[in-house]
Amino acid sequence: MRSRLVVIASYELVDKNDKNMLDQKAVDIINKLLTSNDVKAKIAIGEGELDAAQMLYQGQTFSHQQAITIDIAVDPIEGTIPASKNEPGSISCIAVAKNNTMLQIPEMYMEKLFLSQDLAVIVDFNKPIEAILLTLLKIKQNLSCIILNKPRYQKIIKTMCQLGIKVELINEGDVLGAIDVVLKKTDFLYGIGGAPEGVLMSALAIATNYKMFARLIRYEQIWPNEKETALRMKIEQQGLEQKKISYNTIFFWTRFSCW
Ligand code: FBP
Repeated sequence: MRSRLVVIASYELVDKNDKNMLDQKAVDIINKLLTSNDVKAKIAIGEGELDAAQMLYQGQTFSHQQAITIDIAVDPIEGTIPASKNEPGSISCIAVAKNNTMLQIPEMYMEKLFLSQDLAVIVDFNKPIEAILLTLLKIKQNLSCIILNKPRYQKIIKTMCQLGIKVELINEGDVLGAIDVVLKKTDFLYGIGGAPEGVLMSALAIATNYKMFARLIRYEQIWPNEKETALRMKIEQQGLEQKKISYNTIFFWTRFSCW
């Protein structure tokens, strides 16, 4: 959707090292576009509920009079840090689906595995990732993986290297990483990143007939000792209870079947 407009609108803020201002500018333009076109839409995945966003928040509707017909997942700038530094690695993302068909989850973490159908056919996402890697290697020997370069992955990155898997590290932006899988630049994407980004990636899997497996991850698993950890845990637990989703739910998306 008119992502060039987002780029043009935000251009003056690229390279200013202020990711929040840049993101806000992109939010404004998309909100304006949706409002002025009176689309019959509701936001299923949008801007941070944690920041009590005024625009593009989960549940926001745009239609003034008519019934809602579509769900929207939007990330005006995915990869705000690279964009604010004028480095590669950011895009503007929007996905659209029939009303009430998109997963609506709180802003939290998600473990994700995104790969082709050929590889996905033997994946049992109940198993630990090390076991999944061994199974994948039985189907394809020269495997390559794209993964966010965060301290929490150093162990699995080491395991991948020991198994002979070629690892490509990216600093931010795992939606772009999944696009690289579809473009056949790499075989699969693995990692724990944002759940909102995960929903956007699930739309990519459905649209391209790739496959994505996922499960939600507790904030305290990633950040056990932060000041905000207790509050974040409370918010995500309430959000999950409301939606009747559990941390144990295994999600999968592909063209013809969803969780
Ligand atoms: P933002 O654009 O919201 O900053 O997200 C960038 C991103 O790299 C996502 O692609 C990824 O899913 C998430 O952040 C990872 O989160 P964290 O930096 O907390 O590990």
